[in-house]
Amino acid sequence: MTPQAGLSFEQAPPILVPFRFFLSAPVFGVLAALTLLWQGPALFDSRWMPPALALTHLMTLGFLGLAMLGAMFQMLPVVAGAPISRANSVSLGVFGLLVPGVLTLASGFLLVSPELIRLAMGLLGSGFTLFILAVAVSLKRAANNPTSRGMRFAVLALTVTATFGLVLASNYGWGWWIANRIQITSIHLAWGLLGWVGVLVVSVSYQVVPMFQLTPAYPKPLSAWLPPGLFVLLLLWTAFTLGNMEALVPVAGGAIALAFALYAGVTLRLQTQRRRKISDVTLLFWRYGMAALLLVLTLWLAGQAVPQLDNWPGYPFLLGMLFIGGFVVSVVNGMLYKILPFLIWFHLQSRLTGIAKIPNMKEILPEKAMRRQMRLHFAAVPLLALAPLMPPLIYPAALIFGVSMLLLETNLIFAFGVYRRNLKLVS
Ligand code: HEM
Repeated sequence: MTPQAGLSFEQAPPILVPFRFFLSAPVFGVLAALTLLWQGPALFDSRWMPPALALTHLMTLGFLGLAMLGAMFQMLPVVAGAPISRANSVSLGVFGLLVPGVLTLASGFLLVSPELIRLAMGLLGSGFTLFILAVAVSLKRAANNPTSRGMRFAVLALTVTATFGLVLASNYGWGWWIANRIQITSIHLAWGLLGWVGVLVVSVSYQVVPMFQLTPAYPKPLSAWLPPGLFVLLLLWTAFTLGNMEALVPVAGGAIALAFALYAGVTLRLQTQRRRKISDVTLLFWRYGMAALLLVLTLWLAGQAVPQLDNWPGYPFLLGMLFIGGFVVSVVNGMLYKILPFLIWFHLQSRLTGIAKIPNMKEILPEKAMRRQMRLHFAAVPLLALAPLMPPLIYPAALIFGVSMLLLETNLIFAFGVYRRNLKLVS
């Protein structure tokens, strides 16, 4: 595989800058699985119970947050031509603040400890401030392409998410002072899942889907307008929510759902037009992710039409399992399986060309190991989604999900081991 035109790989940061995030992300998936096993069916009593909140953030801030920050450290220089200055120190600082921050936030929820929540607020608040400031400076110089424009909206959405998250956390840290907690939580989670996570996946896919899955490019109007369109719709939805305009909230929500459905449909169609018809693990992860996205959007729309569904306590869990586990974890997992071996190959070939043989992508991360982990993930998601209906399913679901995350971790460590062994040969 060769780097594509328009990508400036000579600006790529040192390998550990993204890898410290990538290699740590699955550990949070394992911790999430352990939380599920520990809590069992009691977890589904209410989405507002602290263990459910711990689980949510182990996945959103821990697994997804770390993987996505790692991807941004890598992609800003390469795709946007805008490296983060002092990338190594900044990434170490962000990593060193966020990892203990997520751990203390989750333990603060689980142990119902205001002290830990306050500590988590300090760590997460400073970690995100450092990241957002560093990225803002770099994005000012960024090339004007759909991915870097989309990243700007995603980072703005992260700023909104983290701000509302800190306000909500202060409720746990200093007593219950927020009157409209439910409304603020809806805004926080919409900006987190749809703005930050959703818009970043969309923007990054403009590069990685054609590059790694050999599909045609996304249609120009879609790649240009989807991230700003989603951002504006989220702003409208927020204004309607805060203004208690009950008739308009579902209209904006429906438009957001349709925009994501359009994206999933286009992605699936592009994948049918790929140049090499061989199916690989990343492609399957992405297809699975898009199918889960379409399913969760349909279920969300059904909830708008059928109040009994919307009022069922298991419903937010069903949506959360499908959106986070089925859609985002799948595409991130698939992406890690391309980005990691590709970066290892890229760094090795820049150091070893003419000196030693460079392992190919299949030697860096064997297909068989990836497929084994993929099958477990594909089995875990439906079980996790069905568990709110049949609570005892939580145990096999959590077990399979945990083993899948453990295997993901060992696969990534194996690939990094190949990198280190090959460098040692010449040092
Ligand atoms: C600075 C970082 C963050 C902090 C301090 C934080 C804090 C919180 C708190 C305290 C709640 C509970 C609200 C309540 O019970 O009143 C909450 C809910 C939630 N947060 Fe965060 N959060 C952060 C980042 C994120 C991110 C980045 C995402 C998603 C990508 C996210 C997704 C969610 C979701 C989905 C819920 C609702 C959970 C449910 O309804 O069961 N959070 N957050």
